[in-house]
Amino acid sequence: MSPETKLEQVPIENDEEIPYLQNPVYDEYPFGKTVYFETYGCQMNVNDAEYAWAVLQNAGFKKTDSYLMADVILLVTCSIREKAEDKIWNRLAFLKTLKRKQPGKGFPKLGILGCMAERLKKKIVEQEKAVDIVAGPDAYRDLPRLLEQATSESTTAINVMLSVDETYADIMPVRMDELSKTAFVSIMRGCENMCSYCIVPFTRGLERSRPVESIVNEIKQLSDQGIKQVTLLGQNVNSYRDLSEVQHKPTPEDVAPMSKGFKTIYKPRLGGLRFAYLLDRVSQIDSEMRIRFMSPHPKDFPDEVLHLISERPNICNHIHLPAQSGSTKVLEAMRRGYSREDYLNLVDRIRHLIPDVSLSTDMITGFCSEDEIDHQDTLSLLNLVKYNFAFLFKYSMRKKTHAYHKMKDDVSQEVKGQRLAEIMEIYQQKLVEVNSQCLGTNQLVLIEKPLQKNPDVLMGRTDGGLKTFIPNSPIPTSVNSQDTILPKPGDYVAAKLTSYKPNSFRAQPLHLSSIKSFYSTGSR
Ligand code: SAH
Ligand code: SF4
Ligand code: F3S
Repeated sequence: MSPETKLEQVPIENDEEIPYLQNPVYDEYPFGKTVYFETYGCQMNVNDAEYAWAVLQNAGFKKTDSYLMADVILLVTCSIREKAEDKIWNRLAFLKTLKRKQPGKGFPKLGILGCMAERLKKKIVEQEKAVDIVAGPDAYRDLPRLLEQATSESTTAINVMLSVDETYADIMPVRMDELSKTAFVSIMRGCENMCSYCIVPFTRGLERSRPVESIVNEIKQLSDQGIKQVTLLGQNVNSYRDLSEVQHKPTPEDVAPMSKGFKTIYKPRLGGLRFAYLLDRVSQIDSEMRIRFMSPHPKDFPDEVLHLISERPNICNHIHLPAQSGSTKVLEAMRRGYSREDYLNLVDRIRHLIPDVSLSTDMITGFCSEDEIDHQDTLSLLNLVKYNFAFLFKYSMRKKTHAYHKMKDDVSQEVKGQRLAEIMEIYQQKLVEVNSQCLGTNQLVLIEKPLQKNPDVLMGRTDGGLKTFIPNSPIPTSVNSQDTILPKPGDYVAAKLTSYKPNSFRAQPLHLSSIKSFYSTGSR
């Protein structure tokens, strides 16, 4: 591939057609072809399940929403903390009773997909004999074959090969919830950051990015289908680099591509098309489609990306900025590649360039060697940053990781519990301040769905990603209109925030709106 600077794009031909149709189709499954999915873990798993479903649908399977009706039960699993895996073991213990109970339906095949499959490989079957297939995150194309292989009662089929280049770029995922107006689009897979506590690099393999054109094509199709929000997904979504079709010459920014003060333990890739380029392209596909991204790493927030977020009304003003700890000493032990100060400087920079940004974080408490002073540093970071939302975890040691091999899990469960309670308390105290400041403001809410328990209430999200509830009743069709309409999923509603609970708002709907009209002056 030529490393010349070249921006023309090569359209992918035949984007309607799914090339994996060339794969052999197995149509003799003596156990039937009805599949049930249950998904755990992060959003990447949700999207992966959609790839797995696309592959199986193509092989003639039908989906069911009830495990009781299923011929094949697939659990898409997570290994991030011990508790995540415990949940799956418990679920398996229950599901295997179906193997005895399902009258007239034969035995459902049980499959473990995803990160736990990758981490434990055949050990899963050794521990739980009821499992028939085990497929890692890069093996979903192989599901029809694996199921074919597992037809006999005594055979287990396993594929846990990780790939250096699988991005499922040529497969159009089939969404589980066909009525939903929001969609996930994976843009890269794997992670090479090797944070010392984290299992993900071992379950998801090397970092690789999907070509820009295949992403743009998918999002165009989603826009044509009426999807109103796309979340770009990756374990390090902003480390995205398309090194495939179109090459850039490494530019001066490529030489120092990271946020100021940040470093990695692996050699950053150079050249290719980067996250800012992709964000620019996808945000121009449909100006009424919201673009979000998850999960970014603090190291890859050059000003270019921040300017884009600030300038484009359809790129949401929400940044997930996982800090993990407020102590430089612990951050070093975690191999996060930044100090407390670097992180706080980045927060300032982000707030300077995107004043109404909402920020969220992940924090781990009780990591190896974390002492009381480190813990106080985390409390003070939460005090300083004032996040709009946060995911707070107790450290859970994972085999294979650097911390498992080289460090001591030396904070007791009791202290981890206490510290978690303390960081939770500070976070919630600050949240009261942050949320109160939002009260009375007008926000553009994208309606997602009526509440299952109370269809008189609609749930949506603000630009900043805050969950917001409005009454399910008619509203004016525009700012000065006398006509009214019942808002539905996929509609934008201008709404005034009236009250909050820790993680959600109630709002008074004002009128139907759009990204264009809401953000143009005077129409709010
Ligand atoms: N790639 C993403 C997140 C991956 S996992 C990122 O880097 O932001 C989601 C979160 O789980 C992490 O941000 C971290 O806070 C938490 N986590 C990961 N490993 C953990 C462990 N061993 N114990 C407790 N929490 C962990
Ligand atoms: Fe895990 Fe770190 Fe990679 Fe996130 S960046 S997936 S925390 S190794
Ligand atoms: Fe869990 Fe794997 Fe996601 S370990 S958090 S499902 S990448």
